[in-house]
Amino acid sequence: MSKKILVTGGLGYIGSHTVVALQEKGFEVVIIDNLSNSSLDVLGGITRITKVSPEFEKLDLRDKNSVKAFFERYSKIDGVIHFAASKAVGESVQNPLLYYENNINTLIYILQELKEREDSRFIFSSSCTVYGQADELPITENAPVKKAESPYGNTKQIGEEIIADTCKVVPRLKAISLRYFNPIGAHPSANIGELPIGTPQNLVPFITQTAAGKREKLSVFGNDYPTPDGTCIRDYIHVMDLARAHVVALERLLEGEQEENYEVFNLGTGKGNSVLEAIKAFEKVSGQKLPYAFADRREGDVISAYADTTKANEVLKWKAEYDIEDAMESAWKWQQKLEVKED
Ligand code: NAD
Ligand code: UD1
Repeated sequence: MSKKILVTGGLGYIGSHTVVALQEKGFEVVIIDNLSNSSLDVLGGITRITKVSPEFEKLDLRDKNSVKAFFERYSKIDGVIHFAASKAVGESVQNPLLYYENNINTLIYILQELKEREDSRFIFSSSCTVYGQADELPITENAPVKKAESPYGNTKQIGEEIIADTCKVVPRLKAISLRYFNPIGAHPSANIGELPIGTPQNLVPFITQTAAGKREKLSVFGNDYPTPDGTCIRDYIHVMDLARAHVVALERLLEGEQEENYEVFNLGTGKGNSVLEAIKAFEKVSGQKLPYAFADRREGDVISAYADTTKANEVLKWKAEYDIEDAMESAWKWQQKLEVKED
């Protein structure tokens, strides 16, 4: 019998790609989303790709009673992948309580339900932001967690601690935190992708919107960093690779292959690219020149961060298959599709 997986935030950017990957592997999916940063159209996009419409429950995970009622209705959930959270770093500085409530309370309410069940499996969306500026590159999972630069980053650190502490006393609960580096790109069909609301804060949606003529030019934040070309270095990972990693991690949990009941993995390509290299990759695949200008450094940016992926490669037997050009090509295709929709 196929396994049933709850995907919270499953209409969001990474969640929707993961729902596709799960359905393509034969899992049954039920999505919870409150549509605070997504749209019902995403359900259609998922269905167009997989020919299967996932179950959907519009529900706000901040409402503890609704979470409880959901788990009463769904007595058979074999695993939970918890994407739902607020993720805008700047907004978290302005409104920390919103972030602590949405990212921490929701996690606690779900874990409280799972604690009561037999054999719960749980996957948490964490971030490379927990490492801050690591002392050594590439970054392994053993690198120390640094004091968070923002309430958002802090919610990921606290979230991981909550899960680790809970797993210590609830041996039936098996959990994995996945520390994503920089997710970019879209499904190659352009049926789903990232939907930034307002002015994008992240590099790739800003690049594609600039190329589409919606922004005048990209500001490259800082060109005097101690890197080969002076711009910051990141590990840009295709969202399709990230989605597949969730399926692999889930299978590890379901097959009882874990050595410890709480594990952490880095998810990146293992390769760092500078902002200028990212622009070049975009220009190559789109055939377009991108208008950009150097600007001041952005507060809170680390100089360089890229993953040591040995643990994910060896333990999960997972490796990123796409490169930055593939990811840029899909991001550009998705942007063009959005433009057509808006016209
Ligand atoms: P997203 O905003 O596209 O998706 C999150 C989804 O959760 C949205 O559909 C939103 O409507 C939903 N949601 C938020 N609060 C909710 C609530 N209280 N109840 C129900 N639904 C709720 O974000 P994403 O980029 O797909 O990120 C998914 C996860 O990965 C988040 O936890 C994020 O912090 C983490 N993460 C993202 C990145 C990134 O760069 N995108 C990097 C590292 C970690
Ligand atoms: C962001 C989040 C971080 C999260 C990470 C992973 C911030 C401050 N940090 O990090 O918490 O864990 O994503 O998804 O938002 N850049 C420009 N011009 C732009 C936008 C970005 O030059 O208009 C540069 C940045 O300085 C950085 C790189 O592009 O060097 C990537 O930026 P971004 O996409 O925002 O991701 P991160 O800063 O790595």
